[in-house]
Amino acid sequence: MQILDGKIVALAVKNEIKQQTILLKNENNKIPHLAAILAGTDGASETYVANKIRSCEEVGFKSTMIRFDIDVTEETLIAAIKKLNEDDDVDGILVQLPLPKQINESNIINLIHPSKDVDGFHPVSVGKLVQGLETFIPATPFGVMLLLKYYNIETEGKHAVVIGRSNIVGRPMSILLSQNTNPGNCTVTLCHSRTKNLEKICMEADIIVAALGTPGFLKAHMVRENAVVIDVGITRVTDKTKKSGFAIKGDVDFVNVAPKCSYITPVPGGVGLMTIAALLKNTFAAATRKIK
Ligand code: GUN
Repeated sequence: MQILDGKIVALAVKNEIKQQTILLKNENNKIPHLAAILAGTDGASETYVANKIRSCEEVGFKSTMIRFDIDVTEETLIAAIKKLNEDDDVDGILVQLPLPKQINESNIINLIHPSKDVDGFHPVSVGKLVQGLETFIPATPFGVMLLLKYYNIETEGKHAVVIGRSNIVGRPMSILLSQNTNPGNCTVTLCHSRTKNLEKICMEADIIVAALGTPGFLKAHMVRENAVVIDVGITRVTDKTKKSGFAIKGDVDFVNVAPKCSYITPVPGGVGLMTIAALLKNTFAAATRKIK
């Protein structure tokens, strides 16, 4: 069993971006600039956005964080997005999800200009992804693809089972794995809460991507020998022994599943770090596409 180490791969990606950013600045006098919008004070979202901003600094990007109270109106968010769309210095716009309940998320996401949609959530980006065209790929599934590529994991002709059909992870993941690319060319089964015989389907998988957000969901009896297991779950569960009061748990029962696997991602230290690395790649691409 080999660990797919998100720390090593994310660092490699970040170092590459750091070098490219120096060149971009020297040759084109351009510094990639990410603007992040955070509404409310959800602890996990706060952490995610803070990590994204810190990572921008690490690779030499500019970043702007715009905060709103939990009771922000849709009009206020719309005005903020419009301003960022028009700001030529801003290359990428990220609106951290979930948004407060009074906000219609689609109304906000659909307003981000597709050329700045570094999360890849805009319908134009999704449409391009489905057609295999160059676009911004949502950061988490993009990060998983970078991880598979780094470790040279054979995916062609394999049966990949994706558990979870969210717009952020499961659905784009299923599209990417089925594409005629490397990694890719999998036969994909997309499972969700209404799937019957999930355990049997998982037992037939060469690759399992668990992206449902239920800690410890994937158990050893659902995984066949030598499977590749990718754990996308990042759930905070109460843990009084931790200073923070919580522990981060993945969707996989790691202790019992890992011995059966050929490769597996840990949580933390796996896909989460790759998500940020992929977002930086998208932001760099947004900055350079403008120059071309
Ligand atoms: N919430 C959970 N994951 C994500 C993500 O990748 N991007 C944004 N914007 N919000 C999220």
